[in-house]
Amino acid sequence: MEISTNYSITEGELKDKVILVTGANRGFGKAMTMDLAKAGATVIMLGRDLGSLETAYDEVVDGGFVEPILYPLDLEGATAEHYQQLQKDVLDNFGQLDGLIHNAGIIGTMMPIEQYDLKLWYATMQINVNAPFMLTQALIPALNKSADACVLFLSSSVGREARAYWGAYGVSKFAIEGLSKTLSEELEKTNIRVNSLDPGRMKTEMRRTAYPAENSDKNPLPESKSPAIVYLMSEKSKKIKGEQLTLSDA
Ligand SMILES: NC(=O)c1ccc[n+]([C@@H]2O[C@H](COP(=O)([O-])OP(=O)(O)OC[C@H]3O[C@@H](n4cnc5c(N)ncnc54)[C@H](OP(=O)(O)O)[C@@H]3O)[C@@H](O)[C@H]2O)c1
Repeated sequence: MEISTNYSITEGELKDKVILVTGANRGFGKAMTMDLAKAGATVIMLGRDLGSLETAYDEVVDGGFVEPILYPLDLEGATAEHYQQLQKDVLDNFGQLDGLIHNAGIIGTMMPIEQYDLKLWYATMQINVNAPFMLTQALIPALNKSADACVLFLSSSVGREARAYWGAYGVSKFAIEGLSKTLSEELEKTNIRVNSLDPGRMKTEMRRTAYPAENSDKNPLPESKSPAIVYLMSEKSKKIKGEQLTLSDA
């Protein structure tokens, strides 16, 4: 299902919503954090680098948008105990969670499976798959307390159609698609809707690493696509569940 990036944010449309974004310090995560806060949501900005999290936080506040919360956590090393603590922090401070956006990820390396570095394989699967699984599992009770909660898994075209040499990244995105579908089926009768999203190409660090030879200026800015995330977190998209979504280029 294709979602248009041509979405106009209405002031206050996400008022009183609490939304957690992983990898909120830069790239697409930062762009969506700005727009979610602009739409009135309180964003819990999860990231592993406090310095760049604080810089992104300052930009949200300087923009006059809703003040976000910083949550430093390295998804590679985080354990079930860290996620339980996060759940407790969310429930103690907000009583519920309305959105969970699994945006953080690493590209790994471009290499044949036959030669793929074992350590990098584990790291990619830990950050791109195991962390979203543990985070979701821990936060379902908080999502259950929302009248309309939304879980969004950032995916990729290589997680829907296999491409040679994309290694652990491609495999991790296939796994994310499976996690998204399975969870959606399990939560069918609840107020939690679950979707995966291929955002398409964007001018970010990840894209530059994957395509070092291309002219990156030809790629859409993440800011041109992030308004669609507000739509997907809003009640306007309430009927969209269990879908493999793609974003149109702006
Ligand atoms: N850009 C594209 O063209 C494109 C296309 C299809 C899909 N996607 C998907 O869109 C999502 C965002 O991609 P992007 O292009 O914005 O990537 P990016 O610019 O490389 O940003 C990745 C984010 O993930 C965070 N992250 C990585 N490892 C982490 C860890 N161990 N703990 C916590 N945070 C960690 C990074 O934080 P640090 O700053 O600390 O590294 C950063 O905030 C990804 O899921 C990606 O697969 C992107």
